[in-house]
Amino acid sequence: MDYEEIKAKTDYIVNNPIRNFKLEELKGIIERYHKNHPKSKEVYERMCKIIPGGVEHNLAFNHPFPIASKKVYDCYMETVDDIVMTDYLMCGGPIILGHQYKPLIDKVVETIQEIGPCHGITHEYEYLAAEQLQKYFPSCEIIRWLQSGTEADMLAIRIARAFTNRKWIIKIGGSYHGWSDQLTYDMHVPGTKLLESHGIPKPVFKFTDSCPPNDIEELRRMFKEKRKIAAVIIEPMGGESGAMPTRPGFNKEVEELCHENRALMISDEVVCAFRLSMGGGQAYYGYTPDISVFGKIVGHGFPSAAAIGGRADVMAVCGAGVTGGKRAYSGGTLAANPLTCAAAYWAIKFVEETNATEIAGRAATRLSSGLNEVFAKYDLPWFSYNFGGTVHFQTSCVFGLNLNDPKQSGQIPIRKDFMGEMGAALVDQKLISVAGSRFYTCILHTDEIIDETIQKIDNICQKVE
Ligand SMILES: Cc1ncc(COP(=O)(O)O)c(C=O)c1O
Repeated sequence: MDYEEIKAKTDYIVNNPIRNFKLEELKGIIERYHKNHPKSKEVYERMCKIIPGGVEHNLAFNHPFPIASKKVYDCYMETVDDIVMTDYLMCGGPIILGHQYKPLIDKVVETIQEIGPCHGITHEYEYLAAEQLQKYFPSCEIIRWLQSGTEADMLAIRIARAFTNRKWIIKIGGSYHGWSDQLTYDMHVPGTKLLESHGIPKPVFKFTDSCPPNDIEELRRMFKEKRKIAAVIIEPMGGESGAMPTRPGFNKEVEELCHENRALMISDEVVCAFRLSMGGGQAYYGYTPDISVFGKIVGHGFPSAAAIGGRADVMAVCGAGVTGGKRAYSGGTLAANPLTCAAAYWAIKFVEETNATEIAGRAATRLSSGLNEVFAKYDLPWFSYNFGGTVHFQTSCVFGLNLNDPKQSGQIPIRKDFMGEMGAALVDQKLISVAGSRFYTCILHTDEIIDETIQKIDNICQKVE
């Protein structure tokens, strides 16, 4: 589905009332959820006593309460209530070889047995993994390992400021770049600005701003203003991993505009690397960023995996250890630990050997075209598209709301609630999604599993008014 069609379909959904579940059907979905998951409910009740809000993982949506896992393998999750779910959460993107991919587990276990998870000095897996990453990201002449996407994005803007001697960072409205102080701004729904910035003093955002998605003229205008822009940071597929897709050509236009103005372009590849294409967003869309940010997928879900890479002259300002002179400080006791670096080295190797990116992409294409057939069959305005191994299916289009339109601006809670209900309807069909609106695929989502999933979505569509 091309950009214009996605835009037209989004416009239709946001300008019309949402298609809800029939009341009786929704009641049934929620009743079965309670009946089928009593142990998950017990876990949740216990969690509520000690964990803020009773849940620390937001991606799956948690209506009416979160599901707790017991065993996870291949493309399945077995819950504490012994229900086997087909998993399309894939830990929020990094799992593309399937859970517990044995050759990778064996290599990581071997590393732990030989040298433990972390010891604080250099290990050869650091450069081996960096070389492996660079093979697919030639724009990354120098690479530094970090511990999370949030941390890597945080360092990216610090490096950009130190290198350019400028202060302003421009992000694209609705995009997510982790939860560091300065980037917790205008997230999820474009134009929401400080809506989710509680606990962060306003002056922190003195030099952060956002540009509406795909609006190159507005970005040009921002460059023409007096302020000095250090960098523009983008999510290659568009905000929320492509829930608000990038207009064809936009990323390249950003690169050109940045370079005309001697600013840096930062490409946040946390979800795109090895999932959208082996070379991430920059290879897929054809542009060359100055700095690239990597997260969870570089270690295939092993904890403490992230990296930042870029032009050698730019990255020179982030030398750690004994480097003197002007430097963008970075640290992290557990960063570049052998466990993570071994996981990264082997994960990239296995993704390459198994052709995982292409296979997961094919599964995603089959799924999204099957979903579109089902939505058409029930005359629903819902729609689906995929970018590589990331499938979006839009039902309430919360991310597409235009906050300048008074009819749409009050709709965020209602449309978010519907996504929660959709999440519950998917669990009812033994499917785990990302936030009731996204599926990540892996090499183990076979045609048979995909077709079964399409039939389950058909079952869900039958429950809609
Ligand atoms: C595009 C993007 N950037 C940054 C992050 C933050 O990464 P982490 O959760 O590892 O801090 C995410 C997380 O999903 C992301 O999707």
